[in-house]
Amino acid sequence: MTEPLFVFHGIQKTFAKVEILRKVDLSLYPEKCTLITGKNGSGKTTLLKIIAGLEKPEKAEIEFSGKSHSWEKIMPDICKKIIYLHQQAFLFSSTVESNIAYGLRFNTMTREQRRKSVKKALELSGLTEFAKKQANTLSGGVQQRVAFARACILKPKVLLLDEPVSNMDRQSREHACHLMQFLKSTGTSIVITSHVPQYFDGLADMHFELVNGKLIET
Ligand SMILES: Nc1ncnc2c1ncn2[C@@H]1O[C@H](COP(=O)(O)OP(=O)(O)OP(=O)(O)O)[C@@H](O)[C@H]1O
Ligand SMILES: [Mg+2]
Repeated sequence: MTEPLFVFHGIQKTFAKVEILRKVDLSLYPEKCTLITGKNGSGKTTLLKIIAGLEKPEKAEIEFSGKSHSWEKIMPDICKKIIYLHQQAFLFSSTVESNIAYGLRFNTMTREQRRKSVKKALELSGLTEFAKKQANTLSGGVQQRVAFARACILKPKVLLLDEPVSNMDRQSREHACHLMQFLKSTGTSIVITSHVPQYFDGLADMHFELVNGKLIET
């Protein structure tokens, strides 16, 4: 296997004296998809938030570019490369198209390149027909796809998806998985949490279950 982008070592997290994560290790590889399952409350969201820099662990080391760093020291540098997508889509009250284009506003692309990039993201996520619609008037599953397309267009090194297809019907799920597959092929490392591993057959390269604060390979 190719070199990992980031290796997280010994992640520890406690809430109200309960150990949620007990020295969890996780390696994130380019072009690979990691699936994490586990019971409600097992710590999946907490783990993703720590990887994204949104939740502070008691302890964690991150190996990056051949060196090991503490979570606190390196997170400000690497968090720009990592996108965490919450289960609940947060969209702006504008069209689907402008929601997707939002992340590109400070990009150095020309207007034409930006337009092409948005068009491709719309196509890949099966949202072309919704492009001019107000995003917050759409159904929950379609809104989830818009949030997803908005994250994908930024081409993150790591994309963390917390129960990404939970509100989606089969067709929406297929569009979302198609977009994930595309993103994976362009080098992104994807981490997905889900209660239904079968949805990600053919996409996930590794599958772990979070049990008693530890990741167990299944
Ligand atoms: N900010 C917080 N303060 C206190 N406890 C918290 C906090 N965030 C999470 N917890 C607790 O940590 C445990 C793990 O929560 P987490 O949301 O990570 O689980 P999960 O595996 O994502 O669950 P689900 O499958 O329901 O999404 C739960 O017991 C939760 O109550
Ligand atoms: Mg969760």
